[in-house]
Amino acid sequence: MHTNQDLYKNLLSRHSIRRYKHDLLGKEELLKISNFTQVVESLDDKNIFYFKLFEYQPETPSGKALGGFGRIMNPPYFMAPFINGNINSIVDLGFRTQQIVLDLWSKGIGSCYVGCVHRQNRVKQLLNLSNPIKIISFLIFGLPDKNQSLRLYQKISQVFTRSKKRLSYEELFLDHQLPENVRRNILVKKILEAGRYAPSATNAQPWRFNIKENQFTIFAHQKKIANIYDLEQGYSLHDTGICMANMSKAAQALGTAIRWCWVDADFNKQPSNGIDIPIAFFSLDDLRSNL
Ligand SMILES: Cc1cc2nc3c(=O)[nH]c(=O)nc-3n(C[C@H](O)[C@H](O)[C@H](O)COP(=O)(O)O)c2cc1C
Repeated sequence: MHTNQDLYKNLLSRHSIRRYKHDLLGKEELLKISNFTQVVESLDDKNIFYFKLFEYQPETPSGKALGGFGRIMNPPYFMAPFINGNINSIVDLGFRTQQIVLDLWSKGIGSCYVGCVHRQNRVKQLLNLSNPIKIISFLIFGLPDKNQSLRLYQKISQVFTRSKKRLSYEELFLDHQLPENVRRNILVKKILEAGRYAPSATNAQPWRFNIKENQFTIFAHQKKIANIYDLEQGYSLHDTGICMANMSKAAQALGTAIRWCWVDADFNKQPSNGIDIPIAFFSLDDLRSNL
């Protein structure tokens, strides 16, 4: 029997796996994984989410779509998660994919995102996808090779991404402090901690928090000058969705629930650079009443 604390600890222990055993998963396990689309929660039912599941074979079109990181990490499997919908759908894409990451992790299956924003057109061409569909990242997965930390490239990638480091609350909160009432609220702090430790492209942690009158708001943090690899700053929206999923799953593990509401359900405009875009909010009072 797993206690709430076990589930929560397991969630926080997740880290990217870049080295895999070549044992294949059982048919039943794979079937369960391929049914995940029906199980994961959405932020918005109007968005259509699905993914394609592949065994990794470098010379096939899907293997080529995964690109250079595929050849370096050589995973047994990967998936290409997509979404079809308005601009908020990119947040929803991260939200849904991260639930899959956490579910896999709870079953002992490791994974690592492999971003593909800079190669979207090529990826869509190779996977036969038409244009309104959005893909931000692949997800490679399989049974972790426990010796991975000894591998040189793993060390190198950790140096580049400082993958164990996370921003402090002073850096994450828009007004640079964790409010006093939250500092003393263990449930809220644990949920925030799960958000803080969420994975993100280049470990940029492009989310920001604010609490006013017991309402928590999450923002997507955009860079002042967009990176040439991500001109539309898709990672910031996608990874904010990942952070929200970590918070939601932590809340569930602790026996409560978050009800996310969009700040602006219809924003279709392209976000402008250099600002924190309010994405979604929930009431802290609900956490206690949902316990
Ligand atoms: C959207 C996205 C794209 C990513 N792309 C890559 C990638 O191409 N190669 C890689 O090694 N890691 C990639 N990562 C993994 C991040 O580097 C990693 O999540 C971050 O450094 C934090 O480390 P952790 O996941 O071990 O906590 C990606 C993560 C996200 C969320």
